[in-house]
Amino acid sequence: MSIPLNRRNLLAGVAATGLVQPAVAAAPDFGPLAKPSWSPEGPQGAAARKGLGFGAAVPSNLLNRSAEFRALLARECGLLLGNNEMKMAVVLPEPGRTDFAPADSVVRFARAHGQRLRGHALVWHEALPGWVAPLLAGAGPARAEDFLRRWAGTVMGRYRGLIASWDVVNEVMAGYGPVTRADGLRPSPWLTALGPDYIDLAFRIAHENDPRAALAWNEDSLEHDFPWAEAKRARVLKRLEAMRAKGVPIRRFGIQAHLVSDQPFDAETFRRFLREIGQMGLGIEITELDIDDKAYPGDPKARDRAVADFARRFLDVALDEPALLDVVTWGLFDGDTWLNDHPDHRRRDGLRQRPLPFDEEMRPKPFREALIAAFRHAPDHSALRARLRGTA
Ligand code: XIL
Repeated sequence: MSIPLNRRNLLAGVAATGLVQPAVAAAPDFGPLAKPSWSPEGPQGAAARKGLGFGAAVPSNLLNRSAEFRALLARECGLLLGNNEMKMAVVLPEPGRTDFAPADSVVRFARAHGQRLRGHALVWHEALPGWVAPLLAGAGPARAEDFLRRWAGTVMGRYRGLIASWDVVNEVMAGYGPVTRADGLRPSPWLTALGPDYIDLAFRIAHENDPRAALAWNEDSLEHDFPWAEAKRARVLKRLEAMRAKGVPIRRFGIQAHLVSDQPFDAETFRRFLREIGQMGLGIEITELDIDDKAYPGDPKARDRAVADFARRFLDVALDEPALLDVVTWGLFDGDTWLNDHPDHRRRDGLRQRPLPFDEEMRPKPFREALIAAFRHAPDHSALRARLRGTA
């Protein structure tokens, strides 16, 4: 059913997000943090021995439906997040209605299995429900800020104290597509409504709502070796420096790592970029790792080998960086990849992508072995992790 976008509905929508602010809503009980369920033989086991973490983004519907999937997550992962569950399109589907059921089930599962949680994604140009874009466009900065405060209070308030790190802003820098502004920011309804300071503002508001969560800027298209990617990396570093100088409460930088098999990767360039972020005192997380395998042969064996080799090459560089804290894959098994649905990522031979550590039947692939081997060969991150993570 579509909701008419009149002024009454928009105002009702804004007000409704206020109804569930933590001050008025009883905090739901997500249960105590149980003893960790993960196996010492799996990637989280290998990661933990080096002071690192491993986990995956998961869809709550599959989590609720499949006992086999639940067992896989419990065994392999020390960290979880919903892939869409905390996005605004899910949580605020229409004016006056909130839906926390999908996110709640991920949070409950993680608590019951001793797994840490990430929050994703507070401010993003995508996953805005249909009724919010016109609201932001017509709001003016004061009302847009009020809406952002209510939204942050609603979603961050509900899970306050349970989230290790929150993606406060997601994909805010242009680069893969056209760069239209001198500061390189990507066009977004948030940018239009609030101006270029919306990023700093989002961090400050997020900090008020969950002071213990490590707040992250999560960003795409920073891994490969292209001149435009190098320009984007430089713009990111410049903005991070400025944010640090202004005292913006950022503690993490998230690198999505949607790697693409037909794009060049230069270890030394990437290493330097990670070092620069680490030297600013920020923790780094690999947040959405998967490998688009379109340049690799159709044969599953050869393809899985090539995917694992690229993963290993990438992870060896990433895990060398002392500030690197966690590795998260975007899905855990090939049956649950977003890549087959995305026009840029579909394979030309029509075969389904095999980008993740487990296959469509949830059987382990060489990618899983590559993860374990990379963690095993990584330097020990425990000391720096204790300092950077705090409670997260
Ligand atoms: C994707 C989800 O996996 C899909 O189910 C959804 O249709 C679109 O979003 N970068 C991000 C993620 O930060 O939130 C995206 O997730 C993938 C790209």
